[in-house]
Amino acid sequence: MKTLTITRPDDWHVHIRNGEMLRTVLPYTAKQFARAIIMPNLKPPVTTVEQALLYRDEILKTVPVDLEFTPLMTLYLTAATTENEIKKAAESEHIHAFKLYPAGATTHSDSGVADIKAAYPQFAAMEKHQIPLLIHGEVTDEHCDIFDRERVFIERYLLDIVKHFPELRIVLEHVTTSDAVQFVESASTNVAATLTPQHLLYNRNALFVGGIRPHNYCLPVLKREHHRLALVKAATSGNSKFFLGTDSAPHLTTLKESACGCAGCFTAPIAMELYAEAFESANALDKLEGFASFYGADFYRLPRNTDTLILAKTTWEVPASYGKDNLSITPLKANESLSWQICNQ
Ligand code: DOR
Ligand code: ZN
Repeated sequence: MKTLTITRPDDWHVHIRNGEMLRTVLPYTAKQFARAIIMPNLKPPVTTVEQALLYRDEILKTVPVDLEFTPLMTLYLTAATTENEIKKAAESEHIHAFKLYPAGATTHSDSGVADIKAAYPQFAAMEKHQIPLLIHGEVTDEHCDIFDRERVFIERYLLDIVKHFPELRIVLEHVTTSDAVQFVESASTNVAATLTPQHLLYNRNALFVGGIRPHNYCLPVLKREHHRLALVKAATSGNSKFFLGTDSAPHLTTLKESACGCAGCFTAPIAMELYAEAFESANALDKLEGFASFYGADFYRLPRNTDTLILAKTTWEVPASYGKDNLSITPLKANESLSWQICNQ
C-alpha cells in the first residue's frame, strides 16, 4: 500500500468548544495533531489569562490517555483588554496569541472589536510584548457583499495595521481569496496565513450542489474557483508564510440543518486526509510536510515535532455523523469517500 510519512503535524486554528462538545470532538484533533491553537470564542469568550488557563485544564483532562496533545491557548481581544493582560499573556508559556474578531463577523463574535482603530493601543502592546495577533479578516458592514468582505477588510484595515505595527506578528486566519494571498505574499515575514481544507477543496458552487448544503457553509464563505486556485497555489508553493489551520468548527447537526444554520465545517476527524487530497490533486504531496508540520511551528517560535504521522492511500467512507445521538455532528464530506487515511496511533 502506498503510504506517506511526515513529521507529526499541528493545527494552527481550531474550535474545540467546552463541556460535552469538547469531550466529543477533542479526541479527533488529538489523534491527528500534536498541538493546536485553540480558538477562544466560547460563550462567554476567553478574555483573560486566568480563564484561558482554566480552559486549558479542562482540555487537558479530556485528552485520551493514549494520546499526546498540547493545547496552545489564545485570548479573545475585546475593547476592554488591558496592556497589563497583554503583558501577562505574553509572559505565560501557555498563551500564544490574541484573536481579533470584528464584532458580529461570525459565531460568538458579539464581544469582538467594533472599532478596529480604537484597538491600536492594544496592537502596540502586542507588538511591544511580542505576542502574535490572529485576525478574522472580514468587514461586518451589512452593505458589503459577503463575497467581498475579506478583500475590503484588507484594504480598509490590514494595510494600515501592518504599516503602523511592522514588528507585530500577524496571522490572517483562514484566507479565502487571491487578494489575501497577494497581501500576505507581499507583506513582511511577520505576516502569515492559515488555510483550511474546505477552502482548498471547494469553491462556492459547493454551497448549492443540487440544493442548499449547510455543512459546506462556514465564514469566511467559500469563494469563486479562481480564488480557490490561488489558495492551492499558495499552500503548495513551499512558501513558509502559508500553513495549516483547519478552522474545524463543530455545531450540532440540528443547528446546521436549520432555517438559520450556523457557520462552521467540522473537519477534525478527517483533516489530514482532506489536506492530502488537496495536495495530491495539485501534484504537490512533497510540499505537505512543510505546510502541515514545520512552518506554523517556526512562525510561533516553537520547536518542530519529532514524531511522525503516516497516511495510507486507501479508499474509505466518511461517517454520516460523529458523536452520540443527542450530540450528533455532521462532518464535511459525510457519506463521501476519501482516498487517504491516517494509520498510526
Ligand atoms: O465558520 C466559522 N465558524 N467561522 C468562524 O470564524 C467561527 C466558526 C465557529 O466558531 O463556529
Ligand atoms: Zn475559526
